[in-house]
Amino acid sequence: MKEFVPSPPPIVRNQFETIRELFSKNVVPSYGRFDLAFSHGAGSYLYDVNGRRYLDLGGGIAVCALGHAHPAITEALVEQSRKLVHTSNYYYHEPQGRLAQALVELIGPGKLFFCNSGAEANEGLFKLARKFGHDEGRYEVLTTVDSFHGRTLAGISATGQDKVKKGFEPMVPGFRHVPYNDLAAMRAAISPATAAILIEGIQGEGGVTPATPEYLLGLRALCDEKKLLLLLDSVQCGHFRSGRFQSYQRILENSELETRNSKPFLPDGISMAKSLGGGFPMGAFWVRAPYADLLSAGTHGTTYGGSPLACAVGLKVLEVIAKENLEANAREVGEYLKSGLLNLKQRFPNVVHEVRGLGLMIGAELAPDLAKLPGDPTKAQASRFASLLHAEGLMVIPAGTNIFRLLPALNLRPAEAKEGLDILTAVVAKLAA
Ligand SMILES: Cc1ncc(COP(=O)(O)O)c(C=O)c1O
Repeated sequence: MKEFVPSPPPIVRNQFETIRELFSKNVVPSYGRFDLAFSHGAGSYLYDVNGRRYLDLGGGIAVCALGHAHPAITEALVEQSRKLVHTSNYYYHEPQGRLAQALVELIGPGKLFFCNSGAEANEGLFKLARKFGHDEGRYEVLTTVDSFHGRTLAGISATGQDKVKKGFEPMVPGFRHVPYNDLAAMRAAISPATAAILIEGIQGEGGVTPATPEYLLGLRALCDEKKLLLLLDSVQCGHFRSGRFQSYQRILENSELETRNSKPFLPDGISMAKSLGGGFPMGAFWVRAPYADLLSAGTHGTTYGGSPLACAVGLKVLEVIAKENLEANAREVGEYLKSGLLNLKQRFPNVVHEVRGLGLMIGAELAPDLAKLPGDPTKAQASRFASLLHAEGLMVIPAGTNIFRLLPALNLRPAEAKEGLDILTAVVAKLAA
């Protein structure tokens, strides 16, 4: 591959301690970080500053859809940046229009708004809900327990987990949480102020829990009956991760209930980010046709959203996914990984308690009291388990206190999946012994 990117400055070649020192002096300590610093990556492998290689099954938390340093992304960035990086949304440009069209074709009749992150995409959906209900005095958005919707003030207010709210009260008004996959609870929670329901098709941070077909279809019917918007947060579970473009498409594909419906299931709004840019920061939300013009000129905006550079990359990610049939790969390699984890659960039930997920979004719940797990016992088991895997050259993503997630690149190869499972098996077997 042609070397487009200049060599990193010398600082990146410094040892880990020097880099950590720079962080501790200069970077807000809002993240609990692992003791790892990376200098580069290739495909599903990352290399730390000491030259050690890791198999990355975390994919930067479901972001690196094509792995690391994919030549098509590099080329799209270089080619587009030679032409036009940014114009502002005062003007039109072709990449934004083309990416919007491609996403509409993948979802259904509607329109797109482009922004820069998942939290910002959800903010847009909250504003859409408020605009929708405004003239009737409706503003409330119902979300679910254990959901995660981002770290802005409205994002943490929408999130159904107390830990993200702590210290930042009072919350933005107008959000209430009800148990996930519980249609009766959602119905009971609707008030005269309710304007919308927001759920993740597969809860991610909450521990990888897919919605049931009955829940999705029931919510659609409930929203139609009560004149509410049905909004899906697809930031983590979207973009082919489930083995279909949207997780609801995967969840409903064999549902008898869905085939009996006269019109196919569609939500009213979908937020996206993460894999949309394959690592280039971007977000978006789709709004179903009847509501697509609610956010009229002057009502919403963001300076960087949908820049020519971001959209050129977004288009390239979609092109590579289609050309290399990564939708099928996510399904097949995901199935292989999941059955491998289920096998671990069967062999070592005292270590692996539960395995859930679809495609390349898989979560495994650890037993609550792993006595042999090394590390600081005041730290969550999920992150101590991840550290143990790091020592063996494997990266996964913790969720909550006791769950680890696999959210790898959609082009993960079967041999790489096997390598990951072999490491996991060895580590789990040691903990079980
Ligand atoms: C379901 C979901 N929604 C929203 C977000 C927030 O996205 P971002 O971190 O890009 O703001 C995340 C991030 O993990 C997510 O998983």
